[in-house]
Amino acid sequence: MAGIIDVQDLKFTYSGQQRPALDGVSLSIPAGKWVAVVGHNGSGKSTLAKNILGLLEPESGSVEVAGMRLTADSVWDIRAEVGIVFQNPDNQFVGATVADDVAFGLENRAVPRPEMLQRVDGALAAVGMTAFKNREPAHLSGGQKQRVAIAGVVAQRPQILILDEATSMLDPAGRRDVMSLIHNLKTQLNLTVLSITHDLEEAASADQIIVLDNGKIVRSGTPETIFAHGSQVAEWGLDVPYSEDLKERLAAAGLQMPLTYTDEERLADYLWTLNSTK
Ligand SMILES: Nc1ncnc2c1ncn2[C@@H]1O[C@H](COP(=O)(O)OP(=O)(O)OP(=O)(O)O)[C@@H](O)[C@H]1O
Ligand SMILES: [Mg+2]
Repeated sequence: MAGIIDVQDLKFTYSGQQRPALDGVSLSIPAGKWVAVVGHNGSGKSTLAKNILGLLEPESGSVEVAGMRLTADSVWDIRAEVGIVFQNPDNQFVGATVADDVAFGLENRAVPRPEMLQRVDGALAAVGMTAFKNREPAHLSGGQKQRVAIAGVVAQRPQILILDEATSMLDPAGRRDVMSLIHNLKTQLNLTVLSITHDLEEAASADQIIVLDNGKIVRSGTPETIFAHGSQVAEWGLDVPYSEDLKERLAAAGLQMPLTYTDEERLADYLWTLNSTK
């Protein structure tokens, strides 16, 4: 079962803690897939991402990324294949301008300057931020900051993108905007995406959802099989939107409702069709 990310029986305990933050996690993510990792606060999602990136060292078990077993020797080669975007855009800026910021990861990896400039321009164009090239990152909106952070990853040309609640500080329109950008980039650049999220809509667009609870995987499956559990998904750290809550109450009242995730617009359309058959 060779995925582009393979984790076997991973255990990790923070120093001074009694309980492991990850307790025997195994997963295999096939190349080119979008996998959402969900779970309530403290379930171990960020700890999993940090172990995959080699920012934390597993206590036991193994991590393999892009065909490389994670060790002290391979960690830099692995990080070259994995880009990560965090929740708070303000904590990830290092450059004085947008272009400097996007270049930062490349400077660290000694990419020759002409190639670096070309990659920065290409990455800014890919995220629609060319016009902001010489601006100060601090003055951008939240969504623009996340676009710049994504450009930094694109410039690095990794095979894998990890999102650690990358859209959670954005308003709904900003979220959709950044998500649609990432979906496009995934196709264009052939990325594998591991997305940590509380956002049900974001999880619904994944190929697979993994539910973490207390450092263990408690469920894994397609969005359809996960959402068939109805409002139970709230216990797994997903924010249940109004449309899903309403759908469940209508189903309880005896109406036939779609099993798949239904946003407000699709639910409204569905309800109209029910009405027209009566
Ligand atoms: N630096 C740390 N030192 C000690 N314990 C930590 C540290 N970071 C996280 N933990 C603990 O490890 C467990 C898993 O934390 P983690 O940050 O991975 O959860 P999470 O699922 O990402 O949560 P959230 O949704 O809040 O981001 C929690 O019990 C947390 O309190
Ligand atoms: Mg976290």
